[in-house]
Amino acid sequence: MKLIFATNNDHKAAEIRSVIRQDLEIITLKEAGIDQDIPEPYNTLEENARTKSATVYAQTGTACFSEDTGLEVDALGGEPGVKSARYAGENRSFDDNITKLLEKLKDKPDRKARFRTVISLIWEGKEYQFEGVCEGRILEERRGGQGFGYDPVFVPEGSGLSFAEMDMEGKNRFSHRKKATEKLVAFLNSLD
Ligand code: IMP
Repeated sequence: MKLIFATNNDHKAAEIRSVIRQDLEIITLKEAGIDQDIPEPYNTLEENARTKSATVYAQTGTACFSEDTGLEVDALGGEPGVKSARYAGENRSFDDNITKLLEKLKDKPDRKARFRTVISLIWEGKEYQFEGVCEGRILEERRGGQGFGYDPVFVPEGSGLSFAEMDMEGKNRFSHRKKATEKLVAFLNSLD
């Protein structure tokens, strides 16, 4: 069965395909023929995720889910949070966002942070949400070349390695997205 994942981030699609049941074919927006950047105008991950999945469902009538993730840094009052993708400004790179984050955290001893993912699934016209959290800390400088986004500066609790120093299997042992996805998969499995 086909399930649209409302994203064009191939890293995220690969991460979710690596943990979801094989009889569910995950297709991205591009693969579903949807060439549209769905806006994320709200101040919460929950509302942004819901808007994305509801927009795609209204267009396709196919079961779909979206996810929205934010990096919440305690010393910055929860920033960048819902603004994680565009922290350094619209159309800025992952690297620019990290530079801004490290600058803002300079000389701050409290490095505590967490990734929080909210998945919104529209199934038979009804919405369900699933959350996954990964606690950790922000490094003083980048480490590792794998992954994406803030991975080079985030070390999850219980590990000495940054996310960017781990392969996908390693990251999945801790990942916020994996935890939220496990809840999604458990829900989908319970439908049979
Ligand atoms: P999105 O809106 O869900 O795409 O996520 C917002 C931003 O959070 C992304 O552009 C990334 O910078 C960051 N992000 C999301 N998930 C991860 C992750 O697993 N590792 C590192 N950064 C992430």
